[in-house]
Amino acid sequence: MIEFSNVTKYYDKDVVLKDVTFSIEKGELAYITGPSGAGKTTLLKLIYCAEVPDKGQLVVAGSDVNKIKQKEIPYLRRKVGIVFQDFRLLFNKTVYENVALALRIHYMPSKEIKDDVTAVLKEVQLSHKANIYPQHLSGGEQQRVVIARAMVSKPTVLLADEPTGNLDADTSKTIINLFREINARGTTVLIATHNHDLFHGTGRRVFFLKDNQIEKETIG
Ligand SMILES: Nc1ncnc2c1ncn2[C@@H]1O[C@H](COP(=O)(O)OP(=O)(O)OP(=O)(O)O)[C@@H](O)[C@H]1O
Ligand SMILES: [Mg+2]
Repeated sequence: MIEFSNVTKYYDKDVVLKDVTFSIEKGELAYITGPSGAGKTTLLKLIYCAEVPDKGQLVVAGSDVNKIKQKEIPYLRRKVGIVFQDFRLLFNKTVYENVALALRIHYMPSKEIKDDVTAVLKEVQLSHKANIYPQHLSGGEQQRVVIARAMVSKPTVLLADEPTGNLDADTSKTIINLFREINARGTTVLIATHNHDLFHGTGRRVFFLKDNQIEKETIG
């Protein structure tokens, strides 16, 4: 589903990823970890086409990102949902509207939008907060809205960057369980985190980024 072959990425002259080769299978839930500055976010941005590789090949959901045309990027992005820290909720819109916006940009009829948003809010157990503004939600609830927004367009791949960064241990568990459910329904999930507790004991593959490369792969 995601295939890196000797991918190298520079920011100006600084190499961030060098000859990175690994792949994530369809239907897998896997983790990327490594120290701060190792390149975890950069790696996810490459998958999401927010950055382009300088060398090597990267295939995401059947598309070679080096060969993809500018006009095809929105199509790829529809297949890749993101839960990124810098991709925040709009505080002047309700929970419902925050999630619906992800569909409005695709010009979907409003009846379908209503059905899909209602279903996804139910999935993250926030139906009762649909008309609330995000600033009146807890951190864990806000993160569930972010996940709902990523899921509403039914992506084949879900990327999450430190999805439990600001949350306490119990709330983190709820969020991770949500990713497990999403994965169990067939979505490929890739989670970047420096928090080893998130993958310890999960039995899932964990890729360790260090010194610009995948240093090792283990089972969490
Ligand atoms: N847009 C950018 N321009 C220049 N350098 C960047 C840019 N984004 C990241 N970097 C640099 O690339 C390196 C990798 O950054 P990245 O954000 O991918 O690391 P990370 O593993 O996600 O770190 P953290 O755990 O702190 O989130 C860092 O040295 C960072 O300073
Ligand atoms: Mg990061």
